[in-house]
Amino acid sequence: MSDCFEERRERWLPDIREGLELVYDDVDLLARVDELMRTAHSKRPAELRRRDLQRLLNPDWFQRETEVGYVAYPDRFGKTLRGVAERAGYLKELGVTYLHLMPLLAPRPEPNDGGYAVADYDKVRADLGTMDDLEHLAAMLHAAGVSLTLDLVLNHVAREHHWAVSARQGVPKYRRYFHIFPDREVPDEYEKTLPEVFPASAPGSFTFDREAGGWVWTTFNHWQWDLNWSNPEVFLEFASIVLSLANRGVDCLRLDAIAFIWKRMGTDCQNQPEVHAITQALRALARVVAPSMIFKAEAIVAPSMVTTYLGSGARAGKLSDLAYHNSLMVQVWSALATRDARLAAMSLSAMRPKPTTTAWTTYLRCHDDIGWAIDDSDAATLGWSGPAHRSFLADFYSGVFPGSFSSGADFQSNPGTGDRRTSGTAASLAGLEKALEKMRGTVGHDLPTDLGENQAWPQDVNLAIARLLCAYAVVIGFGGIPLIYMGDELALLNDYSFLDDPGRKDDNRWMHRPGMPWDRAALRNQEGSLEHRVYSGLRKLISARKRLTGLHAAVESSVAAGSDPSVLIVTRRHPAGDIAQVYNFSERDTWVAWKEVGSPLRNANEEISRSPIDMATDGINLAPYGSLWISGIETAVRRL
Ligand code: GLC
Ligand code: GLC
Repeated sequence: MSDCFEERRERWLPDIREGLELVYDDVDLLARVDELMRTAHSKRPAELRRRDLQRLLNPDWFQRETEVGYVAYPDRFGKTLRGVAERAGYLKELGVTYLHLMPLLAPRPEPNDGGYAVADYDKVRADLGTMDDLEHLAAMLHAAGVSLTLDLVLNHVAREHHWAVSARQGVPKYRRYFHIFPDREVPDEYEKTLPEVFPASAPGSFTFDREAGGWVWTTFNHWQWDLNWSNPEVFLEFASIVLSLANRGVDCLRLDAIAFIWKRMGTDCQNQPEVHAITQALRALARVVAPSMIFKAEAIVAPSMVTTYLGSGARAGKLSDLAYHNSLMVQVWSALATRDARLAAMSLSAMRPKPTTTAWTTYLRCHDDIGWAIDDSDAATLGWSGPAHRSFLADFYSGVFPGSFSSGADFQSNPGTGDRRTSGTAASLAGLEKALEKMRGTVGHDLPTDLGENQAWPQDVNLAIARLLCAYAVVIGFGGIPLIYMGDELALLNDYSFLDDPGRKDDNRWMHRPGMPWDRAALRNQEGSLEHRVYSGLRKLISARKRLTGLHAAVESSVAAGSDPSVLIVTRRHPAGDIAQVYNFSERDTWVAWKEVGSPLRNANEEISRSPIDMATDGINLAPYGSLWISGIETAVRRL
């Protein structure tokens, strides 16, 4: 049976050609890519071809309101890939349809940046299993209605990858895979405009490697060698990795650190036009061979830049299908710290719309630190100073700001620029760790999370939980795939055990990568437990989400602050029915006038609690950190 390969090839070849021609001056390249596609397609298993056709018939599958994501370290979640497969029931119970498993291809030995230093793209990390286990897992997940996302680390490889080994041995072909300079002249020139990603633990962007006999470009750690994407051979290598992962059953590739792959003198070497041309070619060749697969851009860049990864101008709809909504994440934390939603409303409203065929992935926490990406001019509109606000947020979330509820920590302080980022789990940043410490009268690790002798949870604990759920309500209701970061559904606190691990102690991002405590997960069904309160709160949000077609990602959310600046109003105008969301970002009661939200059509409903809402009154009272999702209304047109 034909699966329309030829038709797809015809459809997408122009996109591949256009992308390649912009970057490479190599007449044979297109023919080699074509050959690669034919070979990969001939090997594509029948099951996956069927999946391709199903998704071609449902091209908006990843935009649907029914999609819910979960992000986990395979070892910390299930010990092995087989173990992860056995936990599929847990994911199903939570309503998950999309699973991002953190790096699992064979890395260098630790330190390896949590697996982001890949030594072999054809092997699974030995303690996790084999490529066969990966295929088995993908098939199991597919049967359970879950898509699988894996990282494609394409800015760099481990120093131990055979390409880098051969480069050090002097093999010319492989030296050209990297950026290796004989002396400091060129690196010094680049460094005039290069920001540092890890200024504290891995300063500079180049590393002198004695065996390589030169300075190697290493944006991240000195054992992560940046690849030279101006070399077409590098493109071909990754085209083949993309297709082989697709043929294993991977549904989505997370393009790790994609912003960094193209270097240009005199710039910050991020977001260069060639990045998009290369993505366009890779995206199109995946569409030809494996149309059920999508791409997700990990571009943690300025709000004005991030939509370009979903395609803007002539590339609209031709690049990644998903991208992290970093700005939403930062703005939610900023609003919680200031009890003021105006900056969030301002900056989110200023963002350009994304192509209607794409979606955000929205999130509150991930395995990385939080970089306080507040735009100076956005801050200035409110009369705030950008640098002062960023510094306030870092102080607030590290817990040193007087009165802060948070217990995070500074990540990579850069005394030169004053920049600091923040580590910590969602629950600890939202105040649960401090509240439990206060309740116990001890500061410490491994705080018990049961009620103990107490009759009821203290107010601080209640507020922290309300804060966490309010923040997650924004993330789950915004539109796009919400990503629940492993353990947030159980309100896991910071894990300080990384301090005892020599391979990890210098990277405090490990504090927000706790192992999955399955004994505590069992408490999710025990009324009154902390775990139950958070888990069931998330469950409610998730099931409400799945009922609301208006959350389909094809339409944009509009964001405004209420006349009480603690109130955030998110409205979604959708042909299937509008939705208005109202959030109180403060620990006091507040009141919102209906005229700021919209007018009832027939029966307005509050969807999280599933109860009718009376809009015949002037407005409504919102509890501390209260959230309302209202359907059955005509939303008020946004006032900027
Ligand atoms: C990505 C990952 C991060 C890693 C970096 C280098 O941004 O999310 O954890 O350190 O890339 O690979
Ligand atoms: C920055 C980079 C991102 C990287 C992260 C590591 O946010 O933009 O790519 O993963 O730092 O913490």
